[in-house]
Amino acid sequence: MNPNEILELMKNRRSIREYTDTPISNEDINMILEAARWCQSGSNKQPWRFIVIKNKNIIEKLAKLAKYGHFVKRAPVVIAVVSNKKVSPKWYIHDSSMAAHQICLMVSALGLGTCWIGSLDRDKGAELLGLSKDEFLTTILPIGHPQKIPKPTPRKPLEKIVSYLD
Ligand SMILES: Cc1cc2nc3c(=O)[nH]c(=O)nc-3n(C[C@H](O)[C@H](O)[C@H](O)COP(=O)(O)O)c2cc1C
Repeated sequence: MNPNEILELMKNRRSIREYTDTPISNEDINMILEAARWCQSGSNKQPWRFIVIKNKNIIEKLAKLAKYGHFVKRAPVVIAVVSNKKVSPKWYIHDSSMAAHQICLMVSALGLGTCWIGSLDRDKGAELLGLSKDEFLTTILPIGHPQKIPKPTPRKPLEKIVSYLD
């Protein structure tokens, strides 16, 4: 595996908010779910589960719960990333966030697009998806074929974010 290619994948991943109507193949969905499954987690508890939503009615309802995610309604597939507080009381948010990011990277590697949805009415979302009281709706990830790839978003230079203690 070429490290430069991995860095390129990370650099080229963009938040994609506009999707075409082309459906996502089951092969691609399985690759995305495998990427999530192989994520690391605190004490390897794997407190997560993933709900693959293709139902238009549910997708539209989820979109309404996302303050900055009206575009979710246009995605052919949404993956809800769910984490169980009881299984990993300390790390359930960390673990599931990392799994969600693995999804984001694999989506990008497949030439597809997604966008992390942070602002979300999680209580209503949990009710809609039938989550148990121990489960937390970490994020919903709309997935689709990008209509266009946005320009690169800037990053702070290393000099500003790194210090060394030799
Ligand atoms: C924790 C988190 C929450 C986010 N919430 C939203 C959101 O609610 N709506 C949205 O459109 N983008 C959201 N984003 C996407 C960011 O705006 C985006 O990652 C950032 O601007 C950098 O752009 P890039 O992903 O294209 O590199 C979120 C990203 C993260 C990591």
